[in-house]
Amino acid sequence: MLSPQRKLHLFSPLLSFSSTVVLLFFIPLDLISIIACILGPEKSFLPISAQFAWSYARFYSSYSHKSFNEEFKYDYLDREAEVPSNLSIINSAFHQKVKQIREASLPEPSISKVSSSAFNKRYNKLERLETMLSKARYSIREAAKNGSMISTHEDADYVPHGPMYINANGFHRSYLEMEKSFKVYVYQEGEPPMFHDGLCKSIYSTEGRFIHEMEKGNFYRTKNPDDALVYFLPFSVVAMVQYLYEPGGHDRQAIGHTLADYIGLISGKHPFWNRSLGADHFMLSCHDWGPYSTSYVPQLFNNSIRVLCNANTSEGFNPLKDVSLPEIHLRTGEITGLIGCPSPSRRPILAFFAGRLHGHIRYLLLEQWKEKDQGIQVYDSLPAGVSYESMLRKSKFCLCPSGYEVASPRVVEAIYAECIPILISDSYAPPFSDVLNWKSFSVEVAVKDILNIKKILTSISQTQYRRMHRRLKQVQRHFVINGPPKRFDLFHTIMHSIWLQRLNIQIKD
Ligand SMILES: *[C@@H]1O[C@H](CO)[C@@H](O)[C@H](O)[C@H]1NC(C)=O
Ligand SMILES: *[C@@H]1O[C@H](CO)[C@@H](O)[C@H](O)[C@H]1NC(C)=O
Ligand SMILES: *[C@@H]1O[C@H](CO)[C@@H](O)[C@H](O)[C@H]1NC(C)=O
Ligand SMILES: *[C@@H]1O[C@H](CO)[C@@H](O)[C@H](O)[C@H]1NC(C)=O
Ligand SMILES: *[C@@H]1O[C@H](CO)[C@@H](O)[C@H](O)[C@H]1NC(C)=O
Repeated sequence: MLSPQRKLHLFSPLLSFSSTVVLLFFIPLDLISIIACILGPEKSFLPISAQFAWSYARFYSSYSHKSFNEEFKYDYLDREAEVPSNLSIINSAFHQKVKQIREASLPEPSISKVSSSAFNKRYNKLERLETMLSKARYSIREAAKNGSMISTHEDADYVPHGPMYINANGFHRSYLEMEKSFKVYVYQEGEPPMFHDGLCKSIYSTEGRFIHEMEKGNFYRTKNPDDALVYFLPFSVVAMVQYLYEPGGHDRQAIGHTLADYIGLISGKHPFWNRSLGADHFMLSCHDWGPYSTSYVPQLFNNSIRVLCNANTSEGFNPLKDVSLPEIHLRTGEITGLIGCPSPSRRPILAFFAGRLHGHIRYLLLEQWKEKDQGIQVYDSLPAGVSYESMLRKSKFCLCPSGYEVASPRVVEAIYAECIPILISDSYAPPFSDVLNWKSFSVEVAVKDILNIKKILTSISQTQYRRMHRRLKQVQRHFVINGPPKRFDLFHTIMHSIWLQRLNIQIKD
């Protein structure tokens, strides 16, 4: 078994900080766009040098613009022809959209004076990291060329294959590259319980569990910030809500201000935030207010990798740089015994939902289907004696409408219970859409089609259903929580999404 801890220590110790910075973003995985910008305490800023200006123009113009793929899927396929450089790997479908987004927020490209030897050392260090990333991009791109159905890489644990992967071979290569090279630095600033801690029970458990796993430091973590590819901001919005927000009150500002202070502290004390304007930093939150709280720090909101359950694309969730985090309701904190597997033939109920009347989508669903049809069983409260879990296991399809926020723990509950998830939401970017082809193991129903649910589901043939069921069982591993984490499980797949977003940018000192 390949251990992610066995990482290459290619680079030597800490180098001192230089104030001079230029940063380039190459977005997404195929150099879609670049931002060059400048920071630094020095007062004089010079215009971008000819060399950078040339690179900028060259990378920018070497792509034909493609229209944005609305499903936010990484398109590993058939891209060889338009990939002019080994810096690029996988995706080009986001081109146009990213260009728009980045242009909208482009600072004036410029460069400041470059001189000291400290600068050169650091420059070399970062350059070496970036060279390693370039190689990883190249190797992933090569692997991705080899078709999508089966990985050609050996792996004793698991070899991704099948149509539920956008590109199985590309994903596998990328996963192996991540294990080899990915390093995360966790900032030490901040005190528990709001930092370095989090709840492991409740609907927000994925937040607490992730923070705990990073704190334990058994995977991907480096103590040397100069070796890191990304920087983790270990705050828990769930804990901040608990400690800073007065229930019933309307003042959520204390959370935002705490975050702003925290980023101020981090960016003042360490060179890394300013170097990338936060682009190689990530935060993670499962709380509904995760996105809102980041809005108090424009660079965190607009540049950083935000790993969020509330992945509402109408509220600034940006699939080109952010990561959609699965929401998992761990009622007891227990992680065993969640997975059940009655076969497809022992599932008498066509579709099932039970949940509070949160939000307009559920309202529409219940209005349309409550007590209307034996096949479509929807409840705002389950009859006494009926167990929620057993209903999941008795149903072919599980309805997962958005509630007060886009994500629903039902998606992962359905995946565990091997009940095909029916996603009913507006503006939701489902988790792991960067590698998983959701359409192959779930059904998306537009809100306007709620009334046609029965027609849509009955039109799926038995053969097709069994195929989806088989695929669902196979992707289950990416949603499973293990303590300690196992390869390809939830923790590592979240990490992989963060790794992919890091591959999407290039940082220059
Ligand atoms: C791209 O490939 C060429 C030759 O294969 C190599 O010399 C160059 O360093 C590579 N560039 C990057 C950024 O990896
Ligand atoms: C592509 O696949 C073939 C056979 O399936 C294999 O021999 C070859 O090494 C693969 N190439 C890469 C770059 O993985
Ligand atoms: C980063 O930039 C901010 C604002 O420009 C500045 O106050 C801070 O001192 C800089 N941090 C470092 C480490 O120089
Ligand atoms: C993010 O960038 C956009 C475009 O520049 C800007 O309008 C918006 O206010 C920024 N968001 C935040 C939270 O600062
Ligand atoms: C997603 O964001 C939009 C825009 O703010 C909002 O109208 C919508 O209600 C959100 N969706 C959910 C399910 O909260």
